[in-house]
Amino acid sequence: MQSLLVDGGRKLNGTVRISGSKNAVLPMLAATVLFKEPCCIRGCPKLTDVDAAIDILKYLGAEIQWYDGDLMVDPRSIRKWDIPDSLTRRMRGSVFFAGALMARFGKCRLVQPGGCPLGKRPINFHVDGLTALGARQDSDDPGVYLGEISGTEIMLPYPSVGATENLILAGVGASGETVIRNAAKEPEIECLCDFLRAGGCCISGDGSEIVRIKGGLPSGADMQMIPDRMEAATFACAAASAGGDVIIEHVNTAHLETVLQVLERAGCRIDRFEHTIRLRSDRLHSPGTIITAPYPGFPTDAQAPMMAALLRAQGTTTIYETVFSDRMHHISAFVEMGAKIELNKNSAYIHGVSELHGGAVTAQDLRGGAAMVIAALAANGTTTIHGLNHIQRGYEDFTLKLCALGAKVQKA
Ligand code: EPZ
Repeated sequence: MQSLLVDGGRKLNGTVRISGSKNAVLPMLAATVLFKEPCCIRGCPKLTDVDAAIDILKYLGAEIQWYDGDLMVDPRSIRKWDIPDSLTRRMRGSVFFAGALMARFGKCRLVQPGGCPLGKRPINFHVDGLTALGARQDSDDPGVYLGEISGTEIMLPYPSVGATENLILAGVGASGETVIRNAAKEPEIECLCDFLRAGGCCISGDGSEIVRIKGGLPSGADMQMIPDRMEAATFACAAASAGGDVIIEHVNTAHLETVLQVLERAGCRIDRFEHTIRLRSDRLHSPGTIITAPYPGFPTDAQAPMMAALLRAQGTTTIYETVFSDRMHHISAFVEMGAKIELNKNSAYIHGVSELHGGAVTAQDLRGGAAMVIAALAANGTTTIHGLNHIQRGYEDFTLKLCALGAKVQKA
């Protein structure tokens, strides 16, 4: 298991450029299954989760080619639909292939995917949605769903990001119109729909709670990725934690407004431009209570990075995690580094301390691992963070970007 060594106590100064969005590109890669012609995804991030999605596309029969930071996918030779569990288990993003394959072939394998251990992560909304569209479980193999799907109205019990995206992909292959109510509104969903519309699909309402999809497979598309709002939030929290003056380029500032507001309440000076943020930070104080929620609320993926940034903030900060049932694993690592945190079910009470110290900690998930780096930047001495593989799933050139800002981070 590869590790990171972080020498803390150094301020961050300089400019960092954000990569394309992991959580937008994963459903887009699954969506290429639907296209009749080749697609180009410009600004595709080089991540291990993207590698996992590419391995699935290659297994299915697609032709893949990288051109610098752009990814070409030719889906015309895709003939397979039955993805082996070994590929499905590598990440949560594999679940999107079920909706796309159902749309193209009228059959798919829909089994529990991989992904970060954030508590129970069932796929019942995905199964119920595909069933409502007409998919039926194969009597001989319960992991397989098949049938002619036709448009219908689906009410999601919760604005699930993945279920919304999966059912949009299935709806593209259904006859008639599919309406998804109580849909998630995350920017990654609008990016997926822009990609499908670039191929000629007729989709409206994305970004609101009612999404309408008219059946009809897309031709080809050539589209620029949106920037990764979670990577931007991570670097904003890193600058807040270590202190300094950092410019974050290639962001859609509106996509991380709730994160910026919390950092401003904590004492950061933030200058906003449409695609750039300047953040200056010295001493932080508690921003009060933070409650995670579906977009446009405070994003659950920024919960761990923000907690890390506030470990030395004067006063007590309350963070209440409402989206996932078990997303506080990073707390034990922060306590190991000298933080004072009480946890009561999904509420964490962070009592600011004057100093953190280095130690040896282990990442268990993507955002928790990045948060441990953020805490280590503010700690006195050296911190060893095991589990670099978790971080590499969602952050492109993370070490390089941090060192360019003046941090002392190296792989071990
Ligand atoms: C997506 O996960 C993201 N992953 C997650 O990012 C993100 O944290 C999450 O959305 C919420 O914003 C990708 O896009 C690849 P959900 P997803 O369905 O789709 C429950 C990261 O760090 N639920 O919105 O799995 C679920 O258990 C990752 O980049 C069901 O009960 O999230 C959770 O409590 C982590 N049944 C809640 O809904 C279902 O069928 C929200 O999950 C599906 C979900």
